[in-house]
Amino acid sequence: MTRDFSFPTAFASPTSIDVRLNDAPLSGTDHTDVGLQSWGASIILSGLMCASPNRFALDKLQPGATIIELGAGTGLVSLTLAALHPHISSTAPAIIATDYHPAVLDNLRSNIAVNFPENAEPPVHTMLLDWSRPTIPHEPVSMLVAADAVYDPEHAGMLRDCAARLLKQDGIFWLIVTVRVVGKFEGIADTVEAAFVDEQCPRREDFGVLKILQREWLEKQRGIGRGDETGYRLYRIGWADA
Ligand SMILES: C[S@@+](CC[C@H](N)C(=O)[O-])C[C@H]1O[C@@H](n2cnc3c(N)ncnc32)[C@H](O)[C@@H]1O
Repeated sequence: MTRDFSFPTAFASPTSIDVRLNDAPLSGTDHTDVGLQSWGASIILSGLMCASPNRFALDKLQPGATIIELGAGTGLVSLTLAALHPHISSTAPAIIATDYHPAVLDNLRSNIAVNFPENAEPPVHTMLLDWSRPTIPHEPVSMLVAADAVYDPEHAGMLRDCAARLLKQDGIFWLIVTVRVVGKFEGIADTVEAAFVDEQCPRREDFGVLKILQREWLEKQRGIGRGDETGYRLYRIGWADA
């Protein structure tokens, strides 16, 4: 199934960022392939980034910066960022969309090709990255992004520890969590706060303590996300003085 997304921008031109995705309905046979769909959180986050890039400090990324998306699924956020960034700055960050599911990574690569057919070097790269044993890049990462990546009680802690290994001292981890108050995912969004209580926060002598620096509630929008989604929590996570 092809899905087209169009996110309004605050610029005079372009007035929108357009992304086309191969977005499969859930097969029902492989419950691990949830990354073949674009979830409400990635649509909300992509829209907010296009509407106000400065709110996400996208204008502050230094030359040579790297953005890694964790649990990228169809890659909507990474593809949006890649299409948006040339309108923010002349120096493009390296954008790496990561996931751990082979079918999801295959679909991700084809979505990149569909959106950037003329680029000899696509502006989004893919990489296998499992939150439970993350590959450590050569350089610490300026920005981490994850959308709807907390849907199991273990995920928040895995993502926290993964961020502690990947994120630069002045880097930002944008985590958007879907709040579901009915069904089998009820209460799982609350595991983020539990993963960041003071004694659980990762500490590094040189960087300080990795903590939640800001939280924001985002209302569910009509026509976006599934019926069990009641809203979203957007977290800004980063290193702070211990
Ligand atoms: C609910 S989907 C969200 C996909 C996408 N971010 C979105 O919002 O549309 C969760 C994604 O996390 C990936 N994932 C789950 N556990 C993972 C792990 N341990 N390491 C890396 N990716 C994982 C899944 O393969 C899937 O693509």
